[in-house]
Amino acid sequence: MNTVNTTTFQSKLPHVGTSIFTEMSQLAAQHGAINLSQGFPEFDVPEFLKGAISEAIAAGKNQYCPSSGLPALLEQIGALVDRCYRQNAAAPLDAMNCVTVTSGATEALWVAFQTVVRPGDEVIVFDPAYDSYEPAVELAGGRCCHIAMTAPDYAIDWEQVEQAINANTRAIVINSPHNPTGTLLKASDLEALQRLVTVYGLYVISDEVYEHMTFDGERHESVLSYPELFARSMVISSFGKTFHCTGWKLGYCVAPAVLTAEFRKIHQYVTFCTFTPAQYAVTEMLQSHPGHIDELAAFYQQKRDVLVKALQATRFNVLPCKGTYFVLLDYAAVSDKKDTEFCHWLTTEVGVAAIPLSPFYQAEVLKAYHRDHKVVRLCFAKNNGTLLKAAGLLCQL
Ligand SMILES: Cc1ncc(COP(=O)(O)O)c(C=O)c1O
Repeated sequence: MNTVNTTTFQSKLPHVGTSIFTEMSQLAAQHGAINLSQGFPEFDVPEFLKGAISEAIAAGKNQYCPSSGLPALLEQIGALVDRCYRQNAAAPLDAMNCVTVTSGATEALWVAFQTVVRPGDEVIVFDPAYDSYEPAVELAGGRCCHIAMTAPDYAIDWEQVEQAINANTRAIVINSPHNPTGTLLKASDLEALQRLVTVYGLYVISDEVYEHMTFDGERHESVLSYPELFARSMVISSFGKTFHCTGWKLGYCVAPAVLTAEFRKIHQYVTFCTFTPAQYAVTEMLQSHPGHIDELAAFYQQKRDVLVKALQATRFNVLPCKGTYFVLLDYAAVSDKKDTEFCHWLTTEVGVAAIPLSPFYQAEVLKAYHRDHKVVRLCFAKNNGTLLKAAGLLCQL
């Protein structure tokens, strides 16, 4: 038999292995540890949504739907965007031509990179960065230019960004509210980005999947509120995060009509359309339960507060968390171990799984900027009992 030779087969992603999220979740399961590593809710989707998806399936809504998404869902997404970010806009968002429903934000990100990145292009990403950006850029023939967020506040130094822009620079990726640091971009950040994008003719891929989870009265600054910036952007979100249904893989991309047309050309060949019953269910949820989204920030803020308060009794330094469902802990007072070793030890010996921060950095960036970076990420999208139990174990250290 003529089998594939694994020593001569050339991988298109030679540096990519099992993700740290899979690794830590597997380790947590093996050792019966409380899993605060991977970012998924411990609680169920809203009852209404569960009923709505069952009804859609029972009613026979089980065939392909339009490739860009159910028109009724596009309309609902348009209305949501207008309500949250475009109160002062002269006209409603043209949802039929500017919104595409995707199989999770992951597909939207992949298609967005395929839409703008050409062979030889450079894409600026900020470390620590979510892990799906770089492989998507590389598969499109581009390369990432990694810039470290500043320490200790995880902000972006826009002067440094401007210095990094060259003739090959094609796009900038932003992510706010930010995974893994829980920080938010401010209006001044978006204004600085808007200037660079306009002056240098760049595109923006804005990952806003945690858009409805911001705390202490802070507002999410969306690219969708900045018309000039939006004109060169693709904004990506995820109903998986908003409705606690990460396994449904339902996301969307909002972009100007010209970019959307290109985005849709690629989307149709990646998946053609996204799971129809979930689109019906989410359409109804958005129509009949707008309060879920309005209450999401308070729901997660309460969870953050439960965990952070319980961690006050530990030797960990809890870093400020303004959004997402992640909080960072500085463990310098607890251990000298490297973050990957520390997380392994924490999972196997203490019984709490966390995610180390170093895998979110390009190796060179990590060496240059964050040599003594002893920080791990905890996910607080868990029941309060789970959070308190984990904090109790961490208090013993
Ligand atoms: C920053 C960020 N972007 C995108 C995604 C992917 O979202 P989805 O599950 O909808 O594909 C995640 C999921 O964890 C994320 O944290």
